[in-house]
Amino acid sequence: MRSCSWRSLLATSLGLFAARTNAQTGTLLDLGDLLAGQKNLTTFNALIQKYPEILLQLPSTQGVTILAPNNDAFNKIPYSSLNSAFKDNNQDVITNVLEYHILQGTRLAASLVPGNPTFIPTFLTSPEWSNVTGGQNVENVRQAGNVVVFVSGQGSRSTLTQADLSFTGGVVQVIDSLLIPPSNITDTTTAFNLTSFQGALYAGDRLPIDSTTPSVTFFAPWNAAFQALGPAISTMTSDEIGQIMDYHMLPQVVYSTGLTNGTKFITAQGENLTVLHSGNNIYINSAQLLQTDILIANGVIHMIDNVLNPQGPGAQPNPTIATQAPVFAGATSVTNLPFTSDIPCTSSCSVSTHSSSSTAVNAKTTPTTTSVYTSKSKGVGVAVARETGLHAAGLMVALGGAVMLL
Ligand SMILES: *[C@@H]1O[C@H](CO)[C@@H](O)[C@H](O)[C@H]1NC(C)=O
Ligand SMILES: *[C@@H]1O[C@H](CO)[C@@H](O)[C@H](O)[C@H]1NC(C)=O
Ligand SMILES: *[C@@H]1O[C@H](CO)[C@@H](O)[C@H](O)[C@H]1NC(C)=O
Ligand SMILES: *[C@@H]1O[C@H](CO)[C@@H](O)[C@H](O)[C@H]1NC(C)=O
Ligand SMILES: *[C@@H]1O[C@H](CO)[C@@H](O)[C@H](O)[C@H]1NC(C)=O
Ligand SMILES: *[C@@H]1O[C@H](CO)[C@@H](O)[C@H](O)[C@H]1NC(C)=O
Repeated sequence: MRSCSWRSLLATSLGLFAARTNAQTGTLLDLGDLLAGQKNLTTFNALIQKYPEILLQLPSTQGVTILAPNNDAFNKIPYSSLNSAFKDNNQDVITNVLEYHILQGTRLAASLVPGNPTFIPTFLTSPEWSNVTGGQNVENVRQAGNVVVFVSGQGSRSTLTQADLSFTGGVVQVIDSLLIPPSNITDTTTAFNLTSFQGALYAGDRLPIDSTTPSVTFFAPWNAAFQALGPAISTMTSDEIGQIMDYHMLPQVVYSTGLTNGTKFITAQGENLTVLHSGNNIYINSAQLLQTDILIANGVIHMIDNVLNPQGPGAQPNPTIATQAPVFAGATSVTNLPFTSDIPCTSSCSVSTHSSSSTAVNAKTTPTTTSVYTSKSKGVGVAVARETGLHAAGLMVALGGAVMLL
């Protein structure tokens, strides 16, 4: 046995009592020796020595794939959403981030089929980032030019830089940036500028409940789809809006690989949606899929270009035109962003004019959001916005109480 206790514990947990270290004879190294011999993995090696309990939880019976960020990847953290967690040495977040880097099963790069994404379960199971059955997933895809990419939360992409470093308990794949654990639906729709959709979820009283419902799929219309409807949807009652939002939600996680031609899915509202493939396009009823597989803590979001109507579940696209017609009577296009004023303003709300430019997305959405708030023409400013936020916080507490009573 080794003198270094974390390594021997690790070897024990992975069932590696007979760990071998001889590179010349071609026998497999244990993980500790493998990492110790990689000059580009010194930061990762130090990190897992600091948090050995993560590896100790791993099953000894099945192989694992460790996505090991190289040293350059750690240098990029200050520019990512993981910055504060690493700067403040937030042990809880860091251990969850590390768990997200361990995939179930031994996955060799050569086993990836070009163009076909696979969704691989990880050892991240903390509900804050993983309210899905069987561990949060990472999307893995082999792109043209033989580039292998792992897609994580907020659409982050990590590229494989060194493949298939086998060790006794599985394989290490080296990546060029850290995976981001998927965040909740509100943070993610904000990052993807799906603000009218987020606002409609609030207007229909579906938030915060939809953010804590486990294992779901959302078809999220982009802002232009809500703008094309204008008053046809924005003047509806909260109950009607809620019904429409439920029609955009599936009570199961369906990644793009499950959106096969002709499939019908029963929605949270009760009516079916139909998937249609035409040429290279995929439609949900008559809405075209714009971006698939945006991972969130409790499932996945697919972005679409039209608001779906449960009153017309048989809507079919006209694949010869680029933008499908709205499927609501009385649609009148508007320039403001419907429902964005229904988003409760919290400390992260971008009403403030000193909104930092730390992330490009927030910087870009700031003017739009600000104009929506000022268009309410009540002389609203940050103070009123804060008040709204407090009110919303009270509402969330009330809703939380109601949920617990159920
Ligand atoms: C280590 O990193 C450097 C710089 O990122 C790179 O040029 C080199 O190829 C890497 N070594 C291996 C074995 O991948
Ligand atoms: C989503 O997470 C953020 C923190 O990242 C939190 O401020 C926000 O309230 C959460 N959204 C909901 C609906 O709970
Ligand atoms: C996860 O789902 C459960 C229901 O299974 C829910 O009670 C809980 O609030 C959710 N957790 C989070 C962090 O969303
Ligand atoms: C967000 O959507 C609005 C309305 O469609 C658009 O004007 C704005 O440019 C978008 N912002 C980003 C960052 O995509
Ligand atoms: C949904 O589709 C399935 C399969 O075609 C069908 O059996 C079911 O009756 C449909 N449900 C509704 C509510 O239309
Ligand atoms: C999808 O199915 C429909 C019939 O249900 C068929 O007309 C269409 O050609 C199929 N699309 C593709 C791309 O195979």
